[in-house]
Amino acid sequence: LRGTLTIDPAFAVGPVRPRTFGSFVEHLGRCVYTGIYEPEHPDADADGFRSDVLDLTRELGVSTVRYPGGNFVSGYRWEDGVGPREKRPVRLDLAWHSSDPNWVGIDEFMAWCAKADVEPMMAINLGTRGVQEALDVLEYCNAPVGTHFADLRAANGHPEPYRIKMWCLGNEMDGPWQIGHKTAEEYARVATEAARAMRMIDPELELVVCGSSSSSMPTFGAWEHTVLAESYEHVDLVSAHAYYYEVDGDLGSFLASAVDMDHFIDSVAATADAVRAAGKHTKRIHISFDEWNVWYQKRAESRPPSGDDWPVAPVLLEDTYNVADAVVVGNLLVSLLRHTDRVHAASLAQLVNVIAPIMTEPGGRSWRQTIFHPFALTAQHAKGQVLQVALDAPTYSTSRFGEVSVLDAVATHDAESGAVTLFVVNRSTDAPLTLDVDLRGVGDVSVLEALTLANPDHTWAATADDADSVLPQANGSAAIAEGRLSVELPPVSWSVVRLG
Ligand code: AHR
Repeated sequence: LRGTLTIDPAFAVGPVRPRTFGSFVEHLGRCVYTGIYEPEHPDADADGFRSDVLDLTRELGVSTVRYPGGNFVSGYRWEDGVGPREKRPVRLDLAWHSSDPNWVGIDEFMAWCAKADVEPMMAINLGTRGVQEALDVLEYCNAPVGTHFADLRAANGHPEPYRIKMWCLGNEMDGPWQIGHKTAEEYARVATEAARAMRMIDPELELVVCGSSSSSMPTFGAWEHTVLAESYEHVDLVSAHAYYYEVDGDLGSFLASAVDMDHFIDSVAATADAVRAAGKHTKRIHISFDEWNVWYQKRAESRPPSGDDWPVAPVLLEDTYNVADAVVVGNLLVSLLRHTDRVHAASLAQLVNVIAPIMTEPGGRSWRQTIFHPFALTAQHAKGQVLQVALDAPTYSTSRFGEVSVLDAVATHDAESGAVTLFVVNRSTDAPLTLDVDLRGVGDVSVLEALTLANPDHTWAATADDADSVLPQANGSAAIAEGRLSVELPPVSWSVVRLG
């Protein structure tokens, strides 16, 4: 196979946004307990946080972390998680049929964010709760001392307001599985009123209203239209959630998952712009893709306990990721980046143990899953402006998306350092691709580094015993001659090529 693309700094889409590299910590399975927090672990710090997980979180390059859910937040009472630990109640978590002892709450999460050097993205409960509780938790987090909840925060050891900027107005309220699920009209009312009142406390908040839980929801599109028609002036972003997995061995369709993400983003942007035009609004609504990943939802480990079994921190959604999954994750990042004009925040769901790049053993080791690598390398090397690349490559037939290009790519250009970075995927299941890149307008550059993630067996997956035998490898084929870069891309591969 042969493909070409053109990199020209004139084709800028917008800046690389650090918030594109967010993640997500939910009270779900072992994400919090034995994930980020495990006081009994030999590597636990004085606050009970696993320092190995903190190190891996920093290495991953995560910018923001959404918390505390997810489906969990729609039944959550934030007050349960503050104050002396011995007085905190154990509660039923209906979303995941578990018990939550509330050992970690807002104050612990904020302490963890400071250590991990990430920005918090707080979600409020609009499932079982409403405007008043949204105001209470905002007062607890952001108000200066002198009022009830701000003083409670101070009494709990935190006199300085946290001044959390980003707030999600509920979670997946379009989903019938959501506690307190609502119609678009019902949700539009409560989200708008919560947003309006929250802005009375702090007009600078950045508010995310719930969009669709996937592009296959029956209400997709109509939901965003109804919700934005009501909330437009009171919110900044609309959320999008998408999970992908290989269905019945259809690797070709799975590798093309970014086609759906492109369609999702383009559709939500178009819907938001239609509401903007009809409502004579001047600002634009942007997208927070605040749950995305590969997730094998049909596997047994995604099934919550049942009956009288309400365990604390059960093994749930602990997907093991293979090389093909990592190629898809790398391609989804390509899609998010090329939409940097509309996608202003995103969260890889989730961070630890639960559909996660980082895995831990209780009391034991931690390791990187395959999906860790494309995320970390993209977060590290995407700098400056995102460039649209003009692609020309053969297509292949997929049962889910029709004819799809075997090649997908995006580039970034840092005007300050002159660095140009190409992120590229060969979706072919069996054929290598020779990529020829026209570097016009880039100037005189050489190859600083070329790394490729691929394996003859794309089903290879990392384990605690062997996390490192398949890592992104130097790609020695990358070479520049007469203003053109040439590089060989193996089948089912993700690569980063750094020029400077
Ligand atoms: O990330 C796992 C779950 O997926 C979240 O709790 C929910 O928001 C989504 O359905």
